[in-house]
Formats: sequence, structure tokens, C-alpha cells
Amino acid sequence: MTKSLFPILAAALLLSPSAHADSLPMPYDAPPSYKAECGSCHMAFQPGLLLAGDWRLVMAQLDKHYGDNAALDEKTRREIEDFLVRNAGTRSRYAGAGDPPRLTGTDRFRRKHDKLSAAVWRDQRVGTAANCVACHPGAEQGRYSERDLTVPGYAGHRGEHGHERRRHGHDDD
Ligand code: HEC
Ligand code: HEC
Repeated sequence: MTKSLFPILAAALLLSPSAHADSLPMPYDAPPSYKAECGSCHMAFQPGLLLAGDWRLVMAQLDKHYGDNAALDEKTRREIEDFLVRNAGTRSRYAGAGDPPRLTGTDRFRRKHDKLSAAVWRDQRVGTAANCVACHPGAEQGRYSERDLTVPGYAGHRGEHGHERRRHGHDDD
């Protein structure tokens, strides 16, 4: 019994960290207002990508939203804020977002993207780091895995990066 179960458990332990890192689905309790109000100018970012305090900061200054006006009526604002805070990231690797908070400023985002050259970020098809779908076509469905990458102007990227990743071994998510 123990003998036959062991390999299965070992495989599950090995696989779970990367499965968690690659896949960040939108929580089921997302109110329809979230996609409608926060997914029109950019994708509706998964709440797990920022800490609760940072989401509160975003939601407290919607009238001056990164140079735009994204103000909402108080009921909707509150509904969205509650959802974001409830599902916010909880680990210290999501710190560093700054003010105004940017999920592209967090320690984890920087670590995951620091191998990309400046030329990639300047590519017109990318435009801004917040344009997740430019490189992660499945971003809105929460798919950020290496298999689902199409980095503009970087045909050889996939294999190269895969190699790099194997060499360094797996990092914590
Ligand atoms: C009127 C358009 C508009 C609406 C509506 C809007 N945003 Fe934004 N948002 C922007 C712009 C523009 C930026 C800056 C993007 C950039 O720098 O590339 C931004 C950036 C952000 C960022 C930072 C992204 C980064 O750089 O990491 C967050 C987080 C964010 N928005 C959350 C929200 C939330 C939550 C809502 C809904 C309450 C919302 N946005 C609604 C236009 C909008
Ligand atoms: C210019 C291209 C580009 C843009 C834009 C971009 N990414 Fe990435 N992203 C990458 C690359 C390349 C990797 C590294 C893949 C790897 O290590 O498996 C990565 C890795 C990730 C990972 C880690 C996946 C894992 O396997 O652990 C997450 C999560 C992620 N990106 C989220 C985002 C989010 C959210 C945005 C938008 C706010 C974004 N990315 C914008 C290229 C991009």
C-alpha cells in the first residue's frame, strides 16, 4: 500500500508548485461589475497579483487612475474593492507595488520578467508592461505558463528560456 502510493505522492509534490505558479484563474466570486468596469481599458487583472493594501489604494484614487479617470459610483466601487481585497495576494513576494500601485512593480513580477530585453518592452505590440495579453495570450483566463507564451519579436524565446529555467531549477512560484 505505502509502496504503491509513494510515487504518486512524490509526483504530486513535484508538480504542484509550478501548476500553482502558471495558473491564476479569476476567482468564482467576481462580481460582473469587475469585468465590466475594470476590464474595459485593460484586462481585468487577477486580484491575487496585488496585496490587499495596494488594491485599497488603487480603489481609493479612481478619479486619478494612472492619468485616467476610472471613477465609479460608491456602491460599485465598494463591491469591487471588497472582491479584490478578499482575493488579494498574501505573500511578501507581491510587495513593492509602489504608489500608485502597479502589479508590474511587485518583486515577483520583476523577478519573473527580468530576463526580457529592453527591446521587447519597447516593441509596439507590447507598448506597456501592463499589456499582459501581448505576451500571455491566455492571461484573461489566468494562463501564464511558459507553454502559453508568445513574446513579440522573440521567435527563439521559448526554447531558450526553457533551458534557462531548467538550469536554475525551480524557484518558489
Ligand atoms: C478609463 C480606462 C481605465 C479604467 C476604466 C480602469 N483602468 Fe486601470 N489603468 C488604466 C490605465 C491607462 C493604466 C496605466 C497602464 C499603463 O501604465 O500601462 C491602468 C493601470 C492599472 C493598474 C496598474 C497596472 C500596472 O502597471 O501594473 C491597475 C492595478 C489597475 N489599472 C486596476 C484597475 C481597476 C481595479 C479598475 C476598475 C476599478 C480599473 N483599473 C479601471 C486605465 C483604466
Ligand atoms: C513582453 C512580454 C510580457 C509581458 C507584457 C508580460 N509578461 Fe509575464 N512573462 C513573460 C515571460 C517571458 C515570462 C517567463 C516565463 C517563464 O519563466 O516561464 C513571464 C512570466 C510570468 C509569470 C510567471 C509564470 C510562471 O511560470 O511562474 C506570471 C504570473 C506573469 N508572467 C504574469 C504577467 C502579468 C500579470 C502581466 C501583465 C501585468 C505580464 N506577465 C506581462 C513575458 C511577459
